[in-house]
Amino acid sequence: MKKMTEIDKLPLIPGVEKIFLKEGFFSFTADSVITVNDPVLLEKGLLLGEYLKKAGHSCTVASAGPAPGVSTIILSLAGEGKEHEMGFPDESYTLSVEEESINLTAPTRAGIARGIQTLRQLAGTGNTIPALRIEDSPRLPWRGMHLDVSRHFFEKKEVLRFIDTIALFRFNKFHFHLTDDQGWRAEIKKYPRLTEVSSQRSSTLIGHYNDKPHRFDDTPYGGFYTRKDMEEIVEYARVREIDIIPEIDMPGHMQAAISAYPELGCTDMTLAPRCTWGISQHILNPQESTLNFMRDVLDEIMDIFPYTFIHVGGDEAHKYEWEEQRSVQDRMAKLGLESEEELQSWFISRMGEHVRRRDRRMIGWDEILEGGLADGAIVMSWRSEEGGIEAARLGAPVINCPCQRTYFDYYQGPKDKEPLTIGGLLTLEQVYRFEPVPDEIPESKKYLVMGSQGQLWSEYMPDFSRVEYMAFPRALALAETLWCRPEEKNWESFLNRLPAAESLLDSLGVNYRR
Ligand code: ACM
Repeated sequence: MKKMTEIDKLPLIPGVEKIFLKEGFFSFTADSVITVNDPVLLEKGLLLGEYLKKAGHSCTVASAGPAPGVSTIILSLAGEGKEHEMGFPDESYTLSVEEESINLTAPTRAGIARGIQTLRQLAGTGNTIPALRIEDSPRLPWRGMHLDVSRHFFEKKEVLRFIDTIALFRFNKFHFHLTDDQGWRAEIKKYPRLTEVSSQRSSTLIGHYNDKPHRFDDTPYGGFYTRKDMEEIVEYARVREIDIIPEIDMPGHMQAAISAYPELGCTDMTLAPRCTWGISQHILNPQESTLNFMRDVLDEIMDIFPYTFIHVGGDEAHKYEWEEQRSVQDRMAKLGLESEEELQSWFISRMGEHVRRRDRRMIGWDEILEGGLADGAIVMSWRSEEGGIEAARLGAPVINCPCQRTYFDYYQGPKDKEPLTIGGLLTLEQVYRFEPVPDEIPESKKYLVMGSQGQLWSEYMPDFSRVEYMAFPRALALAETLWCRPEEKNWESFLNRLPAAESLLDSLGVNYRR
């Protein structure tokens, strides 16, 4: 049996970099106060106050100094943040818990936000917190969770709840997969048919895609987020210092959009948003009018989502229609392109130029490597780690999220004891033991691996409760893998700390897998 270490005595997931336990306890009282040393932290103080209130502690939040002798929590911005080589904010923080007061100090608001979540875990549902000092910072700057809201749609309040739950484990990225063949979920003012038509499908597949013949529920299904909804989601995530990465998946995975605007497609076929899972063979045509349509869409998306990173998909684009269409072949010849893969890269590069004009950076799934990587693009490696290794070799930043280790739509236990999923097996321990920075990348290029994220493709997640079941607790293992350095990780220790995290999830009503 491994010896219990300091971290095993605390309900923390992820673990923390340095911890020193002291004598005594901080106690919440009827007079507990939260104060801040800078007005910009007031919203963080209010957030902490909300969390503590839910845990049964009423704290007054004040911007002025504490009355002497009162149980006080002080949030302070102090010190210079370390500059990150890829431009990410310093997320380090120091948390000092004494009998009379708690001091949370960080050089940035992001650091304060992470420390608040650590404090939220320490407070749990009890009335005291052991005196201690924590000095903490993450190993990797990209610690994300993805959510597909196309195959199934989740209400705004569910998306907010998901963001708040991942915040608890110090995640900092939420990848919002807003469009796909089966439904378009983002209101775009310039193209109202994307919500009138593309957000609704007539029916949904029952059972597994591989079960033939296909059966359908014959029930219309749909939903979308208004611009106001998305702005509200952005604001909610902002207070928690979580960046949202909106994805508009192109040039494949566009059947829903082509259904509403047939001129975007390659054929005269009348289409409708797809009712089965699997990948549509319909693809955008590469004419200038289509590029302009997508530029307009990205413009509205960039107006709503003020973050650096914009995802344009690029995965699984079947190219049959491009091979067969005379107009597409003519366009390829005019552009001097020799293959459909080059055409896809050309298409994606145009989108990259567009987002760069607004100082944003484009992300694509690893297929964007196939016809030549667009300048400045970031590669999300999903089919394996190969795409990430190749991208790093080319000097491109990487998010390493191979399906074999980060696809949370896979089974998490024996198939006969689990609800239906797409297939595959990915256990909690496999997620925990995932090393996000591949050995094959030379030492001098390892900094290009920004991190990783868990994927929640929602074909087999008919409601939000299933999303939570698939996400948790695997997301906790991933969170620790991305926050902690390899030498700080220990599987048995993680298992020791898991029950406390599960109690906290219970208190929040999260439907995790037991
Ligand atoms: C993907 O799973 N198609 C990125």
